[in-house]
Amino acid sequence: MRLDKYLSNSGYGSRKEVKSLIKHGQVKVNEKLIKDDSFHVIPEKDLVFVNDLKVNFRQNHYILLYKPEGYISSTEDENYPSVLNLVSDYRHAALFPVGRLDVDTTGVLLLTDDGDLAHRLLSPKRHVDKVYRVTVDHSLSDKLIEYFKVGILLDGKTTLPATLTILSDLEAEVILNEGRFHQVKRMFSAFNYTVVSLKRTQFDCLTLKGLNVGEYRLLSESEIEKLKNH
Ligand code: URA
Repeated sequence: MRLDKYLSNSGYGSRKEVKSLIKHGQVKVNEKLIKDDSFHVIPEKDLVFVNDLKVNFRQNHYILLYKPEGYISSTEDENYPSVLNLVSDYRHAALFPVGRLDVDTTGVLLLTDDGDLAHRLLSPKRHVDKVYRVTVDHSLSDKLIEYFKVGILLDGKTTLPATLTILSDLEAEVILNEGRFHQVKRMFSAFNYTVVSLKRTQFDCLTLKGLNVGEYRLLSESEIEKLKNH
């Protein structure tokens, strides 16, 4: 595997960023300074160091994106740009979004090329918490708290217990641990509410802290571990 790919996969930045690390003499392979980004490394055998700190090799990429409105959570679409356009530095990785946010929904979206992890996180059995901030079109009723807890029939199947907290007249926080199609909007719509804005503030341990809308960051080693151990 090329040295630049090895470093990018391992969380040291985009291909462009890791090429710069290599060019500036910050990378050693088995004690030897390497300035050639196409240098071949064998992940199982070679020891790679950045600024004399050993690199833990990662096979995959894990990116947390603060999804803006107007982008689609699929890899391509005729009408809207894909969220992948927002991480174009990682074009070389076969990234895809873990689950979907509607085109008008903003917030936490995990992008990865780790199919196993995505599959596990999306499995209904795993009960991954997703937290949403919702604004609706008319006054929220306390009764919704119980309805969301008991479950709502959508397409012949009752939703799992969800936690609804009323934050103000028109705003609520909803915690779900499943991810059915347009689930939040359809749960409110069952009681004649229209969701006028929807933001996912948390996906398992991942939050929007430190990110502005449209920005992204690589996951830390401990976040990856937490997701894998979910
Ligand atoms: N529920 C919705 O209705 N839309 C989303 O984008 C996410 C959850």
